[in-house]
Amino acid sequence: MSTDTLDRKTLEPYWMPFTDNKRFKEAPRMVSSAEGMYYVAPDGSRILDGLATLWCVNAGHCRPRIVEAIRAQAGVLDYASSFSMGHPLPFQVAARIAEIAPETMNHVFFTNSGSEAVDTALKIALAYQRLRGEGTRNRLIGRERAYHGVNLAGISVSGIPTNRKAYGNSLLPNVDHLAHTQDLSTRAFVRGQADQGAELADELEQRIIPLHGAENIAAVIVEPVSGAGGVLVPPQGYLQRLRDICTRHGILLIFDEVITGWGRLGTPFASQFFGVTPDLMTFAKGVTSGSAPLGGVIVSDAVYDTFMNAPGGGIQFFHGYTYSGHPLACAAAMGTLDTYAEENLLHHGDGPIVRQFEEGVHAFAERPHVIDARNLGLIGAIELAPRDGAPGARAFEVFEKCWQSGVFVRPVGDAVAFCPPLIVRPEHLDQMFGTVLEVLDTVA
Ligand SMILES: Cc1ncc(COP(=O)(O)O)c(C=O)c1O
Repeated sequence: MSTDTLDRKTLEPYWMPFTDNKRFKEAPRMVSSAEGMYYVAPDGSRILDGLATLWCVNAGHCRPRIVEAIRAQAGVLDYASSFSMGHPLPFQVAARIAEIAPETMNHVFFTNSGSEAVDTALKIALAYQRLRGEGTRNRLIGRERAYHGVNLAGISVSGIPTNRKAYGNSLLPNVDHLAHTQDLSTRAFVRGQADQGAELADELEQRIIPLHGAENIAAVIVEPVSGAGGVLVPPQGYLQRLRDICTRHGILLIFDEVITGWGRLGTPFASQFFGVTPDLMTFAKGVTSGSAPLGGVIVSDAVYDTFMNAPGGGIQFFHGYTYSGHPLACAAAMGTLDTYAEENLLHHGDGPIVRQFEEGVHAFAERPHVIDARNLGLIGAIELAPRDGAPGARAFEVFEKCWQSGVFVRPVGDAVAFCPPLIVRPEHLDQMFGTVLEVLDTVA
């Protein structure tokens, strides 16, 4: 059967993730191929990818080096395990990641997704504290409006109510959350980072540590810039303060860089953009530019050495996935890292395209329904006033109408997010922002 003409019967068995299945199956939005900045729909129309799909296609779609790397690998070594045996690729990919990661972070544990990376990082943190004789440190601190994937530990430290509410008491018990950094009453329409608000980090030392005791806290996990929670940019100095407090109290700091990694802010990782080095860093998505499932945790030398130098022999960390270091995913990563290097996509800094992006995001000020616009690097969002009794409905309508007009941007709650592939050109930004501006005028 042609994939262009799926009938209702064929649509039914697939339970789509994070989707209103009934609504989608009434009026499917399908794509059949992709290249560079664009998807191609079954009717041949092109759809500009304004979100790097799910914040991941940083090098653009179907880039030749990546395609070739996967093709070549598939015919040579389809699969090999990394459990007490090995093949060269994951070692090579880890070495290349260590080269571009912050100086003191030279070890990589591979997973298949961001959600698995988050759970792995939290387990490393708990096991590390126990190994260094601090076994009472079993509390994890997340943040409101955070998105750390969908596994049970990840949603426990996350702060998006819709993702948590069905699971009630089944979430991890020893968790607390920092307040998020958004305050539209004092910090709306800020370009880049607000110069006010660093003191929000002090909640860790002033409320959470006194309440639970530092000796009971293993780690704090934050996204340097929250993505799926609505693109929340941290105030200047906020992440450094979190770092200082964690260091003072023996708490590990985990940056969830699943979106912010791989050049999104103009540096390889957000850690380098902000000049703040965590102890553990999760990644996924852009490591293969979305072309194959791969994620992982970049681990500081100090944490890794604690595992390697622990007394007793045998396996140092009882954890791993059947597909950790999968040859096809690692080949995809090699092709992606080559593409990033050849096109200087991880070090584009604050170039003209970033400035045009900022202008484009802030051109929405004064437009109908827009109550905030925010940006950093090549990630941004506008926030729309919610409709009475229908949170998110207005942004969803913008998404649907933009799609019909050949542009994909993503609704996240009442915000509309922008996160284009890093190969984006001025004309793509004009098309993306121009379409959203036109659509906004038609939305009630
Ligand atoms: C910050 C962050 N962490 C974790 C995840 C989960 O990644 P995955 O969907 O690959 O499990 C995401 C996905 O959007 C994310 O944005």
